[in-house]
Amino acid sequence: MAAPKSMTRVTVSTLQQMKSQGEKITMLTAYDFTMAALLDQAGVDVLLVGDSLAMVVQGQQTTIPVTLKEMIYHGRIVAEAAQRAMVVVDLPFPHGQLGVRKTLQVAARVMKKTLCHAVKLEGGAEQADTIRALVNAGIPVIAHVGLRPQSVHALGGYKVQRNADKLKEDATSAQAAGAFCVLMECVPQRFAKEISQLLDVPTIGIGAGPDCDGQVLVTHDLLGLTVGRIPKFVRQFADLASSIKQAAKEFQTAVNDGTFPNSGESFD
Ligand code: KIV
Repeated sequence: MAAPKSMTRVTVSTLQQMKSQGEKITMLTAYDFTMAALLDQAGVDVLLVGDSLAMVVQGQQTTIPVTLKEMIYHGRIVAEAAQRAMVVVDLPFPHGQLGVRKTLQVAARVMKKTLCHAVKLEGGAEQADTIRALVNAGIPVIAHVGLRPQSVHALGGYKVQRNADKLKEDATSAQAAGAFCVLMECVPQRFAKEISQLLDVPTIGIGAGPDCDGQVLVTHDLLGLTVGRIPKFVRQFADLASSIKQAAKEFQTAVNDGTFPNSGESFD
């Protein structure tokens, strides 16, 4: 059995140390208090308030519609719940792409209103100036490279990103600009391995193979709660959709046949 994790808050230095010691980093998405508290208690290192909430919570087709106000609302709730995990909030479209000044203002607002510990923004080389400005202002940044879901229309769909030179340039530029971590989505495992070895800062992969310094999944996918298409890179570690439907059916049966509530579940 793995040793219980210390309750000390996971920080940028913790993640850097984990990379140095070859210890894998775990990151999962969280959008609400209950789930965030459970994942935190389970010892997940980083909780990501991802803009994937547009898809899994709001039922949208892409991450594009979620607003800054909504991200702040969910970010605050997750930060409230997490005792140990680092909490990272995504800058939603288009707020991470508005240039240095505006993105800095938005990132500062997200940090202030949510009390999260870092932000994530999509892009690498073209975001270097923005990343540098945020880091200079004391805002820890994760750069999201490879498949950038906010650019899904420009990229022509949710496709594996196979331009090795671009990936390398994005990852190294993000590190040089001060990003404390690089998240790689949907890239061939060979490229992810090479970049993870090349960078000093930790890499977190999703659909990027086993050689990244850590792994992230959308929690709804991992728990078997996702309605619709499941990407190839997902492993469902539970089938909560079936458990939830079964519990709801049993509740209905018990209500209909009069066995719920019983006397122990009622007041004299
Ligand atoms: O928004 C999100 O959940 C993400 C993950 C897919 C990494 O960015």
